[in-house]
Amino acid sequence: MINILLCGANGKMGNAVTRVAAQQDTVKIVAGYDINTQSDSFPVYDNLDNVSEKVDCIIDFSHPALFDSIIEYARTKKIPAVICTTGLSKEQVSKLEFYSKETPVFFSANMSIGVNLIMDLVCRASKILDGSFDIEIVEKHHNQKLDAPSGTALAIADAISDTVSFNPKYMFDRHSVRQKRDKAEIGIHAVRGGNIVGEHTVIFAGNDEVIEIKHSATSKEVFAVGAVRAAMFMYRKNAGLYNMTDLVKE
Ligand SMILES: NC(=O)c1ccc[n+]([C@@H]2O[C@H](COP(=O)([O-])OP(=O)(O)OC[C@H]3O[C@@H](n4cnc5c(N)ncnc54)[C@H](O)[C@@H]3O)[C@@H](O)[C@H]2O)c1
Repeated sequence: MINILLCGANGKMGNAVTRVAAQQDTVKIVAGYDINTQSDSFPVYDNLDNVSEKVDCIIDFSHPALFDSIIEYARTKKIPAVICTTGLSKEQVSKLEFYSKETPVFFSANMSIGVNLIMDLVCRASKILDGSFDIEIVEKHHNQKLDAPSGTALAIADAISDTVSFNPKYMFDRHSVRQKRDKAEIGIHAVRGGNIVGEHTVIFAGNDEVIEIKHSATSKEVFAVGAVRAAMFMYRKNAGLYNMTDLVKE
């Protein structure tokens, strides 16, 4: 049995992970970490120093404000951490990379297997088209999402940048400049509304033809399933930085 500490236990994703974990024989949520400590199923603490349960792996769907305490807890207790919170600062991502030298850390802005497949397809298309088509990324999320653009949209743009032969410039705010589109741009656009779970479309616009690669998540469960799978994957792993590509390969 893999004992999980669930950070952000009382959030929307925390609840989805609790539901998914309850259907699994190999994982058990033994404790939670959240400012809201109400729970019927396992103890939830608002301070990690109070966690007394034996923990084998951390799953974090919380808030960037909790990142430092969570990564420090993982490092000192030598517990693998699956970090799913988005909107981390550059400094936090660097810290995560640094700590992964001594602690197993899994980090993905999108825990859905399908999104990780479209990343692969987008990279293949970018390599073939290599600058001959304009690339725009449009992401849509619910009206409660704090960060924009989404971590996934940025991860898609970064993956394209690593693939193409030129050095793309990210354009987030097209209305702020009155000029023609630069060939080397990747436009990144965020739409917020209703309860859209998550939609990412990558548009490759050429002369007289347009290719769109799109992923839609219709429920938050897909991210929770990915996170629980990641926790199983990380159990007893050596120190290092892992992501969905590593999980899918295994
Ligand atoms: N990687 C992925 O695939 C993926 C998918 C969905 C959501 N997310 C990310 O996961 C995070 C959580 O998403 P959510 O929809 O569950 O959000 P949510 O707001 O519903 O839940 C966040 C939880 O964290 C707790 N929290 C927030 N700030 C806190 C603080 N300072 N101290 C203690 N507890 C605190 C809240 O009480 C809440 O229970 C977000 O960053 C979101 O973007 C990632």
